[in-house]
Amino acid sequence: MAGSVEEILSKYKSGKREDLIPLLQEIQDELGFISEEAIVKTGNFLGLSTTKIYGLATFYDRFKFIPSGKIQIRICHGTSCFLNGSQSIINKIREETGALPGQTTRDGNFSYEIVSCMGGCCNGPVINVNGQYHTHVRAEQLPELIKRLKYIIEND
Ligand code: FES
Repeated sequence: MAGSVEEILSKYKSGKREDLIPLLQEIQDELGFISEEAIVKTGNFLGLSTTKIYGLATFYDRFKFIPSGKIQIRICHGTSCFLNGSQSIINKIREETGALPGQTTRDGNFSYEIVSCMGGCCNGPVINVNGQYHTHVRAEQLPELIKRLKYIIEND
């Protein structure tokens, strides 16, 4: 993947600052997050300071500045899942991983985020683990699930 940022930049016009957001989006789609190095390169390319880029990019929730964990968990916190107990799921995942939503654990194994409706409202609370949906999730099931996922990571 080396050179990906340069490849992306080469598709844009140098100094055209209004391209910042689509450019960052493309970098994130390619790398999974926006690295410090990518910000510096983008800044040099568009003639923007890194502070300015961080300032603008953090305004949009969708940009990530740290790599996601090997296991990515998305927890639905839409109305229906909320009424079915998604807050207890969020609390338990936080307790089990020690990370806050949007963060990645120090070992790089887990990250999780809270999302709105994932379209399975009748089956809530719904979580998604690396693309796989789990429905009717109960907080007490999570320690076992996390343990299993850790085992998979360690033995992969
Ligand atoms: S509210 Fe959670 S899937 Fe719709």
